[in-house]
Amino acid sequence: MSLGTWIEVAYIFSAACFVLALKWLSAVPTARRGVITGVLGMALAVGGTLLRPEIESYRWIATAFVIGTVIGVPMAMMPMTAVPQRTALSHAFGALAAALVGTAEYVLNTHLSSFTMGALAIEVVLGFLTFTASLMAFGKLQEILPQRPITYKGQNFVNVGILVLAIGTAIYLIVHPGSLILFLFMGALALVFGVLLIIPIGGADMPTVISLLNAYAGLAASAMGFVLNNKLLIIAGALDGSSGLILSIIMCKAMNRSFSNVLFGAFGQAQVVLAETQQKSHRSATAEEAASLLLNASSVMIVPGYGMAVAQAQHKVRELFDLLTKNGISVKFAIHPVAGRMPGHMNVLLAEANIPYDALLEMEDANSELPQTDVALVIGANDVTNPAARHDQASPIYGMPIINTDRARTVLVIKRSMNPGFAGIDNELYYLDRTLMLFGDAKSFVSDLVKEVQGQLAT
Ligand code: TAP
Repeated sequence: MSLGTWIEVAYIFSAACFVLALKWLSAVPTARRGVITGVLGMALAVGGTLLRPEIESYRWIATAFVIGTVIGVPMAMMPMTAVPQRTALSHAFGALAAALVGTAEYVLNTHLSSFTMGALAIEVVLGFLTFTASLMAFGKLQEILPQRPITYKGQNFVNVGILVLAIGTAIYLIVHPGSLILFLFMGALALVFGVLLIIPIGGADMPTVISLLNAYAGLAASAMGFVLNNKLLIIAGALDGSSGLILSIIMCKAMNRSFSNVLFGAFGQAQVVLAETQQKSHRSATAEEAASLLLNASSVMIVPGYGMAVAQAQHKVRELFDLLTKNGISVKFAIHPVAGRMPGHMNVLLAEANIPYDALLEMEDANSELPQTDVALVIGANDVTNPAARHDQASPIYGMPIINTDRARTVLVIKRSMNPGFAGIDNELYYLDRTLMLFGDAKSFVSDLVKEVQGQLAT
């Protein structure tokens, strides 16, 4: 077989690895296999490309490799809670690469067909806008930039105007491809549009936006595949683009948001619903009382949320899980698809603490068990347990599927105060007769619970 054929074979195996990686990544027990397969696919893709006969010198490739490693290794060390902003940075770099390759192709090729020019325009516009939008998303999540949505009069008009101008320039270039100035103008418009796209969106909504930017970066890479006539890039870009899109749709459904609401960037503002100052009363309990309730239960459902992630309480939760299960108490975890601030947030944290997969229940399964559960222990979750989502049509979370914690016999809620969560609304769950509030930081309260349970078991 010729070298060219070997490279094609490497690309086909690489594409198959990417498809299998996505398939395996979608279930917890096969996720590790999925990661390894994805890495293998990327190694085959890079290895095959490095063997291409048109490469005259490896000097610049080696330089890029060193720069990429210097940036990539510290990025991989970022803490688990920073995964959303790390992902935004990866998209920024991927999209910038696509846009720069597109620019180089435009400068180097004097004869571009309309089809190639069309693909190039898509690659460059999507690449540059995803680059600045992803950097903005990173800045908001890392709190380098203000988190609140920034809006002004006529904002949509300005944003749509810039996008239409960029698309108009692209169409002109497809018909008359010879103007570098216009090409650069189109790229500059895309860069500006990326910034303006993110300005009106609140920091907490960034995970959904990042997933959408993932789709844009994938489409830019796919368009680059058409420009470079590289089938692997087309496949990998399409997989990236469609998986990003599907993930955004899943997140929107789980938050009961419409997809068009996300596409037109009008969200983030609707979230600022202040908690009503209600005079309803709630009951609280100490770690000692909570520990004895847990020890007297035969079934416990733990409902983790954003607060568990912030407090990094998962390892203490694991200790509590071990203590209770060793004493014959059935302990399970109810996982809401948008608990926390990124897809799979709770699964990742609980896996990090080595909590067995089979103890994790998806929302529907947890809901069918909750009416027979003795104690529901909510740890830093709020919106995903709010019964108002089921019946209060005026609530911003109305229609969002929730974990029916209120149907358990006793509900224990660990959080620091009566403050609201992401949606900014009061939670009816806290005022039920069967609910006891356990005020404190999730890590230190669970730690106290562990000590109390150990103490009570010893006596
Ligand atoms: P939230 O509703 O945001 O509530 C988290 C609660 O954790 C807060 O009420 C807060 O109360 C408590 N908390 C914060 N720090 C804590 C600490 N150190 N110790 C103990 N408690 C602490 O979280 P959730 O129930 O997980 O719901 C997620 C929300 O985010 C949903 O509204 C969802 O739509 C939205 N969202 C999710 C995603 C994804 S993909 N997961 C993406 C975008 C938006 P205190 O301040 O009183 O402690």
